Formats: sequence, structure tokens, C-alpha cells
Amino acid sequence: MDVTRAASVVAERARNGRLLVLTGAGISAECGIPTFRGKEGYWTRGSKVYHPMELATHRAFVEQPATVWGWYLYRRSVCRAASPGAGHRAVADMARLLGERFDLVTQNVDGLHARSGVPPERMYEIHGNIDAYRCARACTTRTYPVPERFDDWPKDRIPDAEDLAALACPACGGPGRPHVLWFDECYDEPRFRAESAMDAAARCDVLVVVGTSGATNLPMQIGALAVARKVPILDVNPEDGPFGDLARRSPGGGVLRAKAGEVLPGLSSAIAGAVGARRE
Ligand code: OAD
Repeated sequence: MDVTRAASVVAERARNGRLLVLTGAGISAECGIPTFRGKEGYWTRGSKVYHPMELATHRAFVEQPATVWGWYLYRRSVCRAASPGAGHRAVADMARLLGERFDLVTQNVDGLHARSGVPPERMYEIHGNIDAYRCARACTTRTYPVPERFDDWPKDRIPDAEDLAALACPACGGPGRPHVLWFDECYDEPRFRAESAMDAAARCDVLVVVGTSGATNLPMQIGALAVARKVPILDVNPEDGPFGDLARRSPGGGVLRAKAGEVLPGLSSAIAGAVGARRE
């Protein structure tokens, strides 16, 4: 599908209906944050080769909390050094244009959507946020900002006892942990807004999927629900994957083999035109 056709599908549906955008690591790849499964992915960087299952698990955190924390603190520094790109800005434009008829489900923990201006009440960070931590013993579901002393964390530095004390739960004093979803954990509503994300899928009139390989459960459920509801799906991704299959199966949907920053501004312009025409 070319961008002109995609823009008219989105504009037509969003004129009076609801838009759901679902993003993955690809939208932040253009901002210098490596994707998970790409060549530059976190899992294969440097001299050490980590499989996601090795470090991004509750089990790894229990066994080697300082190593896991060091890895997240470094990744947090990479995210903080990045700025929102053209794709993020276009998504923020869509949010502004559509107001309550817009929802964003993101798997990204980098916070770039919030920094580009998507309001928190319209956004579901279903894999958490790397800038926050919470009680590892779950004494509360509250999250806390990672303290400033951890900004600019170097790649191979392991936090010491004093660092870990600064990351303790402010409520009970127990150990703190990164506010992310690990591979051996389940989605839920209080921490990860999983039900809200599915509700958004149950009421959307068009679904735009950007930069995800479709390797996680909840995003694939969102895509499957959109197909079952006969909602058009547009898959923005330079490579094919499970969401490409769903997009081709969805009536009126299709695949855009392009980078997020190349096509999302065109989609947001089309929405601006449709919303403007509606007001006139
Ligand atoms: P992946 O690394 O699995 O996939 C990134 C996708 O982005 C791939 O399909 C790429 O083809 C695509 N891509 C790369 N550059 C792009 C660009 N400029 N524009 C658009 N697409 C581009 O990342 P995710 O699908 O986000 O979960 O990974 C899903 C989850 O798996 C992550 O949130 C994380 C990980 O394990 C948890 O940590 C729970």
C-alpha cells in the first residue's frame, strides 16, 4: 500500500471515529535507541552477548540484582540522551488533533512519546517506563522516578550497595526494581494498563501499528481483535512480520514498507485535513 492510500484510509476512519496507534522499538530506532531484535539490539551489543531471556527476567533480578540494575541504568541513559523523532512528533500531532478519539499503546519504555507531547491519559505504556522504579516486593503499585544520581550511567558499571540503597522502595525500604515488564511476568491493569489497552482495541475504528516485530502477547491480541472486528490495520515497518499478515487480512488495511519517520507525518497531515474539513 502506498502512503497516499494509507493516509486516505486513516483520514476517512479518523474523521468521525477512533484511532489506535500501537508502537514498538522501531519508532525509536531513528532516534538512536537500538531495537530489541535488530543487529544493534541491546541483547547483542558490545563484547557481551545477552539473550533477552537472560537479563530481562525476574529470575535474573533475584539472582543478580546489581547486574540487572546496571544494565537498565545504562539503557535509561541511552533513552535520556535520545530525542523524539519525526515519527513520535507525528503521533503526538495525531493525539492533539483527535483528542479523546485517540489512544496510544506503546511497548517502548523510553518515554519518547510522553516527551513528544502525547498526554498520559491517552497513552498505555504496557511494558513500563525505564525512568521509573517500584517496590520489588510489590508492597504498593506506586512508581517512583529513578534518582538523578543515576543519570549518564556508563555501560559496564555495576551499582554498589550505596547505589542500591538509593533505589530502595521509599514505602517499605525493601529492594526497588526497574518499572518494566519482564519475560517471566504477566501483564496487568494496575501497573501496565493491559485492560485499558484491550478496551482501546475494542473501540478503535482504525489501527496503525508501527515498528514492532510482534513477538509479545498483548500487542498480538490487540491486532487479532482488530481483525475480528474488521477494523483496517496499517503496518508501518521496513520488514515483514506477523502484523504484516494481520494488516493484509484486515479489510481496507495494508502494509507500508517504510520507516516510521518517513510515513507517519503524511498520515498525521491527512488526519489534520480530515478533522479540519469536519469542522468547516
Ligand atoms: P523488536 O526489536 O522486536 O522489533 C523492532 C521492529 O521495528 C522490527 O520489526 C523492525 O523491522 C522494525 N523497525 C526497525 N526500524 C524501523 C523504523 N525506522 N521504522 C519502523 N519500524 C522499524 O522490538 P519490539 O517489537 O518493540 O518487551 O519488541 C517488543 C518487546 O520485546 C519489547 O517491548 C520488549 C522486548 O522483549 C519487554 O521488555 C517486555
